Amino acid sequence: MITAHTRLLGVIGHPVEHSLSPIFQNAALSYLNLPFVYLAFDVLPPHLGGAVEAMRFFSIRGLNVTIPYKERVIPFLDCLVGEAQVMEAVNTIVNEGGKLIGYNTDGVGLYRSLERKGVGVEGERVLLLGAGGAAKAAVWALAKKGVASVLIVNRTRERGENLACWARAKFSLKVEVIEWEKATAGESSLWSEVAAVINATSLGLKGEEIPLPWEKLSSSVWIVDVVYRPGLTPLVREAKKRGIPSFDGKEMLIHQGAESFFLFTGERPPLQVLEEALDVKDDIS
Ligand SMILES: NC(=O)c1ccc[n+]([C@@H]2O[C@H](COP(=O)([O-])OP(=O)(O)OC[C@H]3O[C@@H](n4cnc5c(N)ncnc54)[C@H](OP(=O)(O)O)[C@@H]3O)[C@@H](O)[C@H]2O)c1
Repeated sequence: MITAHTRLLGVIGHPVEHSLSPIFQNAALSYLNLPFVYLAFDVLPPHLGGAVEAMRFFSIRGLNVTIPYKERVIPFLDCLVGEAQVMEAVNTIVNEGGKLIGYNTDGVGLYRSLERKGVGVEGERVLLLGAGGAAKAAVWALAKKGVASVLIVNRTRERGENLACWARAKFSLKVEVIEWEKATAGESSLWSEVAAVINATSLGLKGEEIPLPWEKLSSSVWIVDVVYRPGLTPLVREAKKRGIPSFDGKEMLIHQGAESFFLFTGERPPLQVLEEALDVKDDIS
């Protein structure tokens, strides 16, 4: 029941209509009977500062931050902690008595989804498609997982090199950058040596296919997509068709959201409630 004690949580982004966060966050709040509601706010770029400042005026307890504001929101916060400092990006803001604290739960989200699905990448090579914010979170998760090395494949080589530079400096990770055209044409012999392929590009969001040299992958490879859309992404659909263990970005979404929920409320949401809210099936192929 909404009362005068109910406090506001939400997500800001632009656009934000596609966000699934209100669905599973409200499901968990209601399951645990906590005095919060969670809404989505489409914030236009010139209003970003005002929207964040409104957290103080309205005692909004917390906000998730999505595209395109994860970096742009930083100047409006009082401090960054943990992974937000390392990644220089924020996906969760918590209002602690008027002080706005920035966190980043994306890396933890991917790390936990790899754990939960049993993706064994410790000491292995992993191929990462993309070099934007989601790829940065993936690098964080892979470093924490103790991978042997990461092969970055990005359309814009320079951005791939920048991510590689960051990964080496922050985590002493062994990283190699491969040209997008060469890699997707199957020219690299490295495809057969990777334990997992992680798509952290935005390809798939609108149903785009990713040209993978499927025949070159090892028989034990995992396909992990950080992208999600209604149904499955084309990448995960193709992997499933070929009997390759795979899952889409709803897993990461749930785990990053569960961590934000904990930061907002101090309670751990039951994962099953989040999964049921998004109709995520616990299958691996
Ligand atoms: N599941 C989750 O919880 C979660 C969390 C965060 C993000 N995501 C998803 O992850 C995706 C990426 O987000 P982001 O924040 O990393 O975005 P971003 O910073 O804008 O990066 C986008 C990436 O996609 C690549 N890309 C875009 N269009 C491409 C194309 N036509 N061909 C090849 N590469 C292309 C870009 O390559 P260039 O560098 O060449 O432009 C870049 O590497 C989004 O779909 C987002 O929804 C999911």
